[in-house]
Amino acid sequence: MNIRAVFEDIIHSFGLSASADLLMAYAAEDLAQGWDNNFHPPRPWNPGSIFGVEGQVLYALIRDSRPDTVWELGVGEGCSSTHILMALEANGKGELHSVDAGLDIGQKIPARLRGRMTVWPEMLDDFLMRIEDVAYSRKRNKAPIPDFIFDDLSHRADDVEKIARFAMNFLPPGGFFVIHDTLAKAHAEQVMVGLRTAGMAQAGLRNYMIEPSDCGIGVWRKPQKEQDDGNASA
Ligand SMILES: C[S@@+](CC[C@H](N)C(=O)[O-])C[C@H]1O[C@@H](n2cnc3c(N)ncnc32)[C@H](O)[C@@H]1O
Repeated sequence: MNIRAVFEDIIHSFGLSASADLLMAYAAEDLAQGWDNNFHPPRPWNPGSIFGVEGQVLYALIRDSRPDTVWELGVGEGCSSTHILMALEANGKGELHSVDAGLDIGQKIPARLRGRMTVWPEMLDDFLMRIEDVAYSRKRNKAPIPDFIFDDLSHRADDVEKIARFAMNFLPPGGFFVIHDTLAKAHAEQVMVGLRTAGMAQAGLRNYMIEPSDCGIGVWRKPQKEQDDGNASA
């Protein structure tokens, strides 16, 4: 699939008011690139990073939906963080909360973008347990409850399930959940088990393999009203 076809499907499936031309224009602003099997060294990003076209989809959706709080699960060397932070910078608002228990994470994120980023250097379970406690309480404004989530963490079914459940429970209407590697040979099976167990696969999730990626991304948007439910499950 090319990136325009992806935007057209997202607009149709999730009832966006943006045109494909507008989303294409946003994508064209994002020159951060990503991993690509066809690049020769020195490559801008190493294996494990998202593809440039996937970063452009993330970027365009953040430009269009203008979230206040983005969660990124899985930082690695910082490719997806860079795309997200560039979009927040262009929007002139929003903060990024990123979870990753690894060492030396985010080393390639440009220094000028880091002001909007908070890194939680801990395991997913610890982070989610704490946030869920607050999210269920009356103190929601004291935690970074997201209105946009990007998951590229362990790709284990149980982790994917927990994150997808959190997204379905706590994203506001119209909030996006984007997940990497839904069609990747090494990860698709586990990732899709997690998404099915959470009920998101049956609730309108769309999967896209965008040329030249061989990973795939899944996109889901929390319905805004009953009508959206019909659209999303078409
Ligand atoms: C595929 S990499 C992320 C790549 C990044 N999204 C990018 O585009 O550059 C996955 C990251 O998830 C982290 N990770 C895996 N399982 C985790 C867990 N259960 N809790 C916290 N971090 C985890 C690893 O340390 C690794 O850096």
